[in-house]
Amino acid sequence: MTTEPDTVTIVGSGLMGRGIAYAAAVAGWEARLVDVDAGQLDDAVGTIHRDLDAGVARGKVEADAADRARSLVSTTTDLAAACDGAGLVIEAVVERMDVKHEVFRTAEAASSPQTVLATNTSSMSITEIIACLDDPSRGVGMHFFNPVPKMKLCELIRGLQTSAETMDRAEAAAQAFGKQTVRVEDGPGFATSRVNALIGNEGMRMLEEGIASPEDIDRAVKLGLNHPMGPLEMGDLVGWDTRLLILDYLAGTLGERFRPTNLHRRMVAAGRLGRKSGHGIYRYDADGNRL
Ligand SMILES: NC(=O)c1ccc[n+]([C@@H]2O[C@H](COP(=O)([O-])OP(=O)(O)OC[C@H]3O[C@@H](n4cnc5c(N)ncnc54)[C@H](O)[C@@H]3O)[C@@H](O)[C@H]2O)c1
Repeated sequence: MTTEPDTVTIVGSGLMGRGIAYAAAVAGWEARLVDVDAGQLDDAVGTIHRDLDAGVARGKVEADAADRARSLVSTTTDLAAACDGAGLVIEAVVERMDVKHEVFRTAEAASSPQTVLATNTSSMSITEIIACLDDPSRGVGMHFFNPVPKMKLCELIRGLQTSAETMDRAEAAAQAFGKQTVRVEDGPGFATSRVNALIGNEGMRMLEEGIASPEDIDRAVKLGLNHPMGPLEMGDLVGWDTRLLILDYLAGTLGERFRPTNLHRRMVAAGRLGRKSGHGIYRYDADGNRL
């Protein structure tokens, strides 16, 4: 089985998967998006096309590159077929170890021994995710940030079994996608999510305690601490369902300071997931603009 060096299979076409596909296609890579939900795939293509139009309008993407990028993105619900020949697979499915293991096992069986198998997990142990592989030296963390078209970082995480070659190839791909990189060792939440999740959880705690309105909590952190977004706006962007899974994982691994609030759990139970569901802390229109 041969691999195409400039072909990436992205598993999960939600907030992150579609953003990674955008970055890869703009860089001239063939981007194969996979999801179990065909509706999500259609929605993802719509987002990618809108983001390309916006990129051209802002002068960030050449019109020719945008046209080429549109032709480089394909979608499928068949994970095994999509892994055939890919040089890189990036998993961006729900933040659950069992689901990630299932994806990694299928991807390994369907890809060549040279294919790099990466996870975009925000928090979970890379070592544990790639331990399900027959050859875990091919496994690595490639943590992109939301929204991927705008965010400059890709955090590279070395699992205990990750080879030096896999780290180098993951870094080369991230840089080809236009990202700057940092390399970190495997630890819950890496160097970014543990800070971000803690700030977001504290914002939610303040809201629960009635310290201030959501708008004032966000304004205080933006204007007083010079953060580009407030913690509650950020939670709406991340998705409170994904954030809850991250916090539960970090509470179990790093300790009680990450324990999510009751308000947070009730919001997820009520379907108030943030921008992606049209209502989180704030309300949004169908294009994700704040109402
Ligand atoms: N949301 C963020 O800000 C953010 C940032 C960095 C990393 N992450 C990480 O990226 C991953 C995805 O997060 P997201 O926010 O894109 O989630 P999301 O809920 O928006 O999308 C997840 C997608 O995965 C699909 N999926 C679930 N099981 C699948 C399977 N077995 N095969 C194929 N597709 C499957 C779902 O249908 C859905 O479309 C998580 O690990 C998360 O921690 C999220």
